[in-house]
Amino acid sequence: MTVPKTMGQQFGRRSWAEPWKIKMVEPIRVLTREQRETALVEAGYNTFLLRSEDVHIDLLTDSGTNALSDRQWAGIMIGDEAYAGSKNFYHLEAVIREVYGYKHIVPTHQGRGAEHLACKILIQPGQYVPGNMYFTTTRLHQELAGGIFHDVIIDEAHDPQSLDPFKGNMDLGKLNALIQRVGAENIAFVSLAGTVNMAGGQPVSMDNVKAVRALCNQHRIRLFLDATRMVENAFFIQEREPGYQETPIARILQEFCSYTDGAWMSGKKDHLVNIGGWFALNDEALYHEARNLVVIYEGLHTYGGMAGRDMEAMAIGIRESIEDDYIHARIGQVRYLGDLLDSWQIPIVKPIGGHAVFLDARRIYPQLPQEHFPAQMLAAELYLDSGVRAMERGIVSAGRDPASGENRHPELELVRLTLPRRVYTQAHMDMTAEAVKAAFDNREKARGLRMVYEPKYLRFFQARFEPIF
Ligand code: F0G
Repeated sequence: MTVPKTMGQQFGRRSWAEPWKIKMVEPIRVLTREQRETALVEAGYNTFLLRSEDVHIDLLTDSGTNALSDRQWAGIMIGDEAYAGSKNFYHLEAVIREVYGYKHIVPTHQGRGAEHLACKILIQPGQYVPGNMYFTTTRLHQELAGGIFHDVIIDEAHDPQSLDPFKGNMDLGKLNALIQRVGAENIAFVSLAGTVNMAGGQPVSMDNVKAVRALCNQHRIRLFLDATRMVENAFFIQEREPGYQETPIARILQEFCSYTDGAWMSGKKDHLVNIGGWFALNDEALYHEARNLVVIYEGLHTYGGMAGRDMEAMAIGIRESIEDDYIHARIGQVRYLGDLLDSWQIPIVKPIGGHAVFLDARRIYPQLPQEHFPAQMLAAELYLDSGVRAMERGIVSAGRDPASGENRHPELELVRLTLPRRVYTQAHMDMTAEAVKAAFDNREKARGLRMVYEPKYLRFFQARFEPIF
């Protein structure tokens, strides 16, 4: 199977366009290069430590950076801020049940709140958690609960140049080998993410989730989904998997979820809101445990750390997120940026994923060893050059192995240009592409960075660096 042509090519001269118009704007300012230099030094060459006011185009993340619709803002005005039993919770619960198909819903303040509950409930110390590539917070919660993460994604996912259409798929052979080696009783659950963030926003096929389900059934292992960008995953199934071209996104999403026992969700992505998350389960007993734990760590089981208005905005956002026109335009914008960079021969991860374009820092800075943080360097250069803020997704994000204390060396050394939903225009994409081109043209001058401060957990958020001269 090959990746189909981009939407522009498919339909000749007919383009996608956003199915909305802009009603309110937020001014942004552009600093001078000297000002950016000062800001970057103050931030220790870490884009997470920049002030947002000092950023021109902010592509750090698609998390919580979405623009709300007028309907969502209207929903915010009917927030029921009751401590217990808010009507907005019941609305949200009904929408999640209907759209994702799970029985029980536990609200949380964001995705990692749900990961925390899931890991506490599902993992016994020493058990393995096979997953389709790690995600930073997900793996840390697994480890803090005593679990051992084990990567079972297909090899192609680690190769930025492989054009496999479903690079997020699990390798059944790897999963089976782990089950044979440690025994099914030593596997806490199988952790499947759609799409796979760290692989470049790559999707999982329906075929693959069905096969993983069948293997899990054979060994009585639970299968849980990280549904954070599952709507984007559904788009790729509709586009690429035989038999799904005429199936609405909503139906694809529901079918996919039906093969899993539950899910955790960072609502800050697909749900088109700024904060919130949930944990969903079908099992009655596990649900009661989760509902009990949520009151310790998040808030009462009818708000879980969200305000009533947040839950209303989320309930409305979920419905908007599964409209086919919306998701086509969303992915269309990501592709527009990626195709432009690709046409200038700038190395990116292909196929272009759902939420971001990933620059391949290894190929851009072949002169830099991974210990000199090529992706961290590239993100810093990009900001310096143009005020565009991106994020490192390489050796800094990968952190250290908890057992040996050694740095992990991921094959992918990437910079993520992440697109907030409904926020930027095509002109912003053009400016971004030109900024990347300018940094790329300067690539031979890059000397790399050294880390001068390293936090113990999730170091990429707060680590500080200095340039190597
Ligand atoms: N799972 C995935 C796949 C994620 O991408 C994230 C967050 C989480 C779980 C955790 O959710 O942030 O709401 O606590 N990803 C953000 C990002 C931070 O920038 O990719 P959270």
